Amino acid sequence: MADINDEKLNESVEELRREGLLCEGVKMDITDAQQIKETIRGIVETHGRLDGVVNNAGITSKVKFLESSSADFDKVINLNLRSVYLCCRAAAEVMVKQRSGAIVNIASVAARNGGGLMSTSLYAASKGGVISLTKGLARELAPYNVHVNSIAPGSIDTPMTTADRDPQEYQSTIQKMPLHRRGQPEELVGPAILLLSDAGSFMVGATLDVNGGSYMY
Ligand SMILES: NC(=O)c1ccc[n+]([C@@H]2O[C@H](COP(=O)([O-])OP(=O)(O)OC[C@H]3O[C@@H](n4cnc5c(N)ncnc54)[C@H](O)[C@@H]3O)[C@@H](O)[C@H]2O)c1
Repeated sequence: MADINDEKLNESVEELRREGLLCEGVKMDITDAQQIKETIRGIVETHGRLDGVVNNAGITSKVKFLESSSADFDKVINLNLRSVYLCCRAAAEVMVKQRSGAIVNIASVAARNGGGLMSTSLYAASKGGVISLTKGLARELAPYNVHVNSIAPGSIDTPMTTADRDPQEYQSTIQKMPLHRRGQPEELVGPAILLLSDAGSFMVGATLDVNGGSYMY
């Protein structure tokens, strides 16, 4: 597990260890190509191989397009899209050589609906880029038996969406959702395992929509 925030990282590592899982944490900034390379090198040195990567870290952006600056755009693209490029680039070096591996990139329902209720066009653009990058990499890496797919979650209860939450907006959002509730982080585990395991061995360049029916097309 890698995160820029040591405190959160250590809490998550400890939580998984308490459940009896083997887990290691490394402090890493997903915008720093050198740190990413060192993390991947460390994994391969310790474990001899790299089977799967989930590119999950990211930020939201609530700034409206007409109030936005190019710095706002660069920030969200850097954190949400360039970072996925960098992590895929470093992971693919190893996976292509070993002729196996699976990469799962976390996109968003925002990429499907233009930003919807909770976010904006800048965030939507970054996540649309994640879906397109996933498809392109999926084509280029499939001949090496490296599977690249993505997940587009809908509204999930995490610190990203619970911080500064307006209770009225929250109620009105969930009433519009077919299940009348938001998702829990655990509800993304099954789809991720599908894409990381042999259960998803014929899935290439797919985007799994895991949104409780909030967006169907
Ligand atoms: N929560 C939702 O409703 C929702 C919906 C759709 C997509 N997503 C996507 O799911 C992913 C996870 O989101 P979340 O809701 O858990 O957000 P979160 O803010 O709760 O967690 C994001 C994590 O990314 C880490 N991070 C931020 N910048 C980093 C950096 N430079 N380097 C390394 N780590 C960094 C943070 O420390 C944090 O632990 C994101 O890509 C997000 O866009 C979330």
